[in-house]
Amino acid sequence: MRAKTLLMAATAVGFGIAALAGTASAQDLPPLEMKDRYKVGFPQMESNNPWRIAESKSFVDTADSCGWDLIATDAAGSAAKQVADVDSMIAQGIDVLFLPPREEKPLIPAVMRAKAAGVPTFLVDRSVDPNVAKAGEHYVAFLGSDFIDQGRRVAEWTLENFDGETGTIVELEGTTGSSPANDRRKGFDDVMAEHDNMTIVASQTGDFARDLGRQVMETLLQAHPDVNVVYAHNDEMAIGAIQALELAGRKPGEDVLVVSIDGTRDALQAIIDGKMGVTVESSPFFGPLACETMKRYAKGETIEPWVKVSDRIFTKENAADHIDEAY
Ligand code: AHR
Repeated sequence: MRAKTLLMAATAVGFGIAALAGTASAQDLPPLEMKDRYKVGFPQMESNNPWRIAESKSFVDTADSCGWDLIATDAAGSAAKQVADVDSMIAQGIDVLFLPPREEKPLIPAVMRAKAAGVPTFLVDRSVDPNVAKAGEHYVAFLGSDFIDQGRRVAEWTLENFDGETGTIVELEGTTGSSPANDRRKGFDDVMAEHDNMTIVASQTGDFARDLGRQVMETLLQAHPDVNVVYAHNDEMAIGAIQALELAGRKPGEDVLVVSIDGTRDALQAIIDGKMGVTVESSPFFGPLACETMKRYAKGETIEPWVKVSDRIFTKENAADHIDEAY
């Protein structure tokens, strides 16, 4: 019998969740039957950038071939709404949850409630605080990139390609409290801390959004007119920064090196145009990987806690070769 059914039965006869402890260990994950069709929840966090739109489309495009009846929502940038969306999906009886948690902490109750309701959960693209919720215990697995490594690779490329004596770096951070913002900052900052000639003079959130990235860059340029490196945690903020730099009469690609993460079409075009130096890939195409991992789980395989996605790097050497496949 599925854990969900067990839970409903236990509740009906007056037992709490603890009553189930006799039938399964606290660490047991909800099982998943092998069947032709699954009711699948995908609560997207926002749809304000090409990366998010490409990720949602990847789930929609995978649905038919994977036998998914997909329930997809858009939390419009609100972690609270994303939690409510998960609760609603649980109430609608989903079999599986693919959750991209907007921030590391606020989504933890949703992960716990999905497990308590017998819904196997896979975190996709972003993670939750690993000190509180763990893969293999509270959710099945995290499917995604190594964000620390992405930040590290951007830093290493910058060190190899920056041709000034001293680097004055502005960092545009992603959404505060999100795993990619935390980890991309760590990866980049740790490398730069080992180089006395490279100083991060300001680090501020642009919430992974182009327009906010532009506004923050405009403000930071006033305080730091000597900036010669901009590290943005995603391409959208990098494009916003390029707009701000150009408005201020600066020449991105000539007097300011702009470096970033994702691999969007606009970023590859900016590299081709000589305005941006590098973008380390962070792929949004999670649909097929989600399908394959779910099917392995349904067959009874133990899923590795981190199903790692490997990322390419785009520079002027290869951007033109990849722009047609970009989003
Ligand atoms: O979680 C991945 C990040 O989220 C992408 O880099 C960013 O563009 C998106 O909003």
